[in-house]
Amino acid sequence: MCGIVGYIGKRKAFPIILEGLKRLEYRGYDSAGIALYDDSDIKLSKTKGKVADLEAKAKNEINTDGTIGIGHTRWATHGVPNDVNSHPHYSNSGDLVIIHNGIIENYDSLKKELLKRGYIFKSDTDTEVLINLIEDVKINEKVKLGKAVQIALNQVVGAYAIAVFDKNKPNEIVVAKLGSPLAIGIGDEEFFIASDASPFLEYTKKAIYLEDEEMAVISRKKGVKLRRIKNDAVVDPYIQELKINLEQIEKGGYEHFMLKEIHEQPNAIKDTYRGRLLAKEGIVKMAGVDDNLERFLNANKIIIVACGTSWHAGLVAEYVFENLAKVPVEVEYASEFRYRNPVITDKDVVIAISQSGETADTLAAIKLAKSKNAFVFGVCNVVGSTISRETHAGAYTHAGPEIGVASTKAFTTQITVLTLIALKLAKEKGTISNSEFHLYLQELELIPEKVKKALKSEKHIKTVANTYKNAKNCLYLGRGYNFPVALEGALKLKEISYIHAEGYPAAEMKHGPIALIDEQMPVFVIATKKGHYEKVVSNIQEIKSRSGKIIGIVTEGDEDVKNLADHVIEVPETIEFLTPLLTTIPMQLLSYHIAVMLNKNVDQPRNLAKSVTVE
Ligand code: G6P
Repeated sequence: MCGIVGYIGKRKAFPIILEGLKRLEYRGYDSAGIALYDDSDIKLSKTKGKVADLEAKAKNEINTDGTIGIGHTRWATHGVPNDVNSHPHYSNSGDLVIIHNGIIENYDSLKKELLKRGYIFKSDTDTEVLINLIEDVKINEKVKLGKAVQIALNQVVGAYAIAVFDKNKPNEIVVAKLGSPLAIGIGDEEFFIASDASPFLEYTKKAIYLEDEEMAVISRKKGVKLRRIKNDAVVDPYIQELKINLEQIEKGGYEHFMLKEIHEQPNAIKDTYRGRLLAKEGIVKMAGVDDNLERFLNANKIIIVACGTSWHAGLVAEYVFENLAKVPVEVEYASEFRYRNPVITDKDVVIAISQSGETADTLAAIKLAKSKNAFVFGVCNVVGSTISRETHAGAYTHAGPEIGVASTKAFTTQITVLTLIALKLAKEKGTISNSEFHLYLQELELIPEKVKKALKSEKHIKTVANTYKNAKNCLYLGRGYNFPVALEGALKLKEISYIHAEGYPAAEMKHGPIALIDEQMPVFVIATKKGHYEKVVSNIQEIKSRSGKIIGIVTEGDEDVKNLADHVIEVPETIEFLTPLLTTIPMQLLSYHIAVMLNKNVDQPRNLAKSVTVE
């Protein structure tokens, strides 16, 4: 949550920071602000609303010529979204200024101490407490800014990625990280700071990703000096060469990132299995699994931890792992798992799934599992993210940057990675035959073409979306592998169109939701030929006899459901455990088009953020 950007160098900082904030708006967008040094002072401009609002305001409010500055786009935690609570925040003297992504959990006790010492606070934020704590340390201990930041952070409990600078030393910015991401872009006598690399990709491909409990003093003349916050040890910076390019984070002709990302899925899935799925040779090659094969094969059970859409991918994986590799699987909400003292042993394998690799609850679940000596494997999309570094081993999804807040290609590529792992374990354990293994690999290789075909129904899906766009409630039903897809379909609709929707296992409908069904209720039913087809058809009959509107997601050529349903959307045929990769597509497109028809902000839905780095 929250995006931070900073710049120090030869160019004007304003356009770089502003453009950077726009790229980071997926991380939060309820308010935004910027601080620039203008030869004598630090000037702030901030506003409730989007970065575009800030742009208009700042141009009239402050001198935008400075070559050092910091900016912030916010997802509120402490204090409502308004101008005052927006970052950056000054210290009481006005000498220091800060931006912060994260939460200072002990801010209340720190604030009480500072109040006693005469500090005053204009905002309700934990961040204003932190900058005054830094100022207090700086004055009392008579230390430089870097040291003051370090001493202050040693008193702080919580999570942070911060950038601070001092108007009396406008040649350096101090940054620090714990729990929230922070990257430093290294240019030619210029440096960039950002929550991810997207704000500086067009200027440099060289980056340092700070580790937890590291801080850096970034100076025009001396470059980047890294230290550990706790023990003051000097750290040698590891400069990475970034592989992503600018086109990957732009809309490429689509109206929204979400639509672009939905259409990217054929290639994204291919990129996920490229070099791993060798159908002709009959091999699945995954370094993270190969190097730890014994841990996987001897696992008592697999525990999957994740949040949101990633949790739904985990549910699909539960069915796949248990059916193919015959290993018991539990799928846990990371936020519950971390606090309920779960039974974990050193014989368990924990798989953490996270698109961003930064989700705070998933990270905490990983730490808990590691403390109990479980082997922890990460499935992340963002390369170099905190979760990918915190886990013992892992596999990237290689879906490319996902910017739309509602997750789409991350979901299908997570399922692809997890299916590959399940297939590999099943082969090694002998729980599937050689011929099944070969057949499954061949079929998985065909999925991108079949996704392409499923995407071709978009025009028809738009008509269906138009019919149901004014519904107040919707029900999504599926069974087996497609029960999690029903959950995901309902989540997509809620997230971006704000229509209430529930996902249910089709047969559970009888135990409650059936009471809701009347002629106003659209029911989206996944009824593909493979997997409990007849039973789902019976469920459809039950809905029909209560006048519910039925939209069937069916296998190409299906006639039975067509005769019963108000609408059908076809997807190509495939083997049962791969159907979620196809049935998900109409769900995504339906939600997208309904939200567009309702004039909702598809890429930045209200109250949500792409990367949830707070509890
Ligand atoms: C947020 C996003 C969701 C995402 C979830 C988990 O809620 O809006 O789209 O599924 O976080 O995120 P992760 O990055 O861990 O997959």
